[in-house]
Order: sequence, then C-alpha cells, then structure tokens
Amino acid sequence: MTIALTVNGEPHEIDADPATPLIFILRNHLGLMGAKLGCGLEQCGACAVLVDGESVLSCNAAAGDFAGRAIVTIEGLAPSGTASAVQQAFIDENAAQCGYCTAGIIVATTALLAKNAQPSRSDVAAALDKHLCRCGSHNRVLRAIDRLSASDATDGR
Ligand code: FES
Repeated sequence: MTIALTVNGEPHEIDADPATPLIFILRNHLGLMGAKLGCGLEQCGACAVLVDGESVLSCNAAAGDFAGRAIVTIEGLAPSGTASAVQQAFIDENAAQCGYCTAGIIVATTALLAKNAQPSRSDVAAALDKHLCRCGSHNRVLRAIDRLSASDATDGR
C-alpha cells in the first residue's frame, strides 16, 4: 500500500501501511528527525507537527488520515536554512535544555502566533498545555514568546 502525503511542500508516495502513525512515516521513511517520539500516547507534545496550520500530535494518528493535507515539520519552518522568527526567538532566549521537547513547542508556538500575534499568558498556557519539558525550560520559552509578541515578527512561519 502507498500513502500520498505532502510534507514541507513536497509530495511523497510512501510505501507503508496507512495505519502507521504519522511520526514513523516522517522519521523512518522521510528522514525528518525533528519531531520526536516521547510518550507515544499524545501526552507529551514532542511529536507535534503542523497540519494545515494547526499543531497536531503525530504519534498516534494514522498517516493515511493526512492525505491531501499540508504537513509541515520543524524542518519545514526553515526551508532555506534560515531560522524562522519563532526558531530565532527560542535561540535568542536559549529556550531549550536537552531539546527533546523543543521542536514540538516551537511548532505549537508557530501555530499559536500565526492566529494570534499578541497572545495573553493564558492563551500561551492553553497552546502549550500538552507540551511537557522535563528540564524546566518553561520560563525561557515564555520569554521567547514574549519577545515574539512584542516584536510581532512571526512572519507567518
Ligand atoms: Fe506524541 Fe508524546 S510522543 S504526545
């Protein structure tokens, strides 16, 4: 069986069972290693990717369900190798520790700011509620988002 997916703007025909969780297609078939498998139970946020602009957890969702939709991974946020505004703010605030959760948090932040350039703290808390960071980088993540909200420089990525 094949699965037709569009990932980071490129169409792919992937020889795999459509019931395969999306994250395994992204990582094992397409070599996109940015999204991480953490809990595998939709409880940690490490596997988040953008689907039609929404932050979606990819660890349990069947890849076949994403046919015809625009999937963007953390790699797709910097297609030319230049960090997106969100990625750059996280770099500037050193908003990571081990980094395992970071791609998912950046994806969720990108989705949030694309819809709401000036989110309240409760808006941010709601958007990041599913994203766990065992290292405790939360304050730096919030500073990065504050920096973006102040500059309104999310450039849609
Ligand atoms: Fe998907 Fe934890 S790996 S939410």
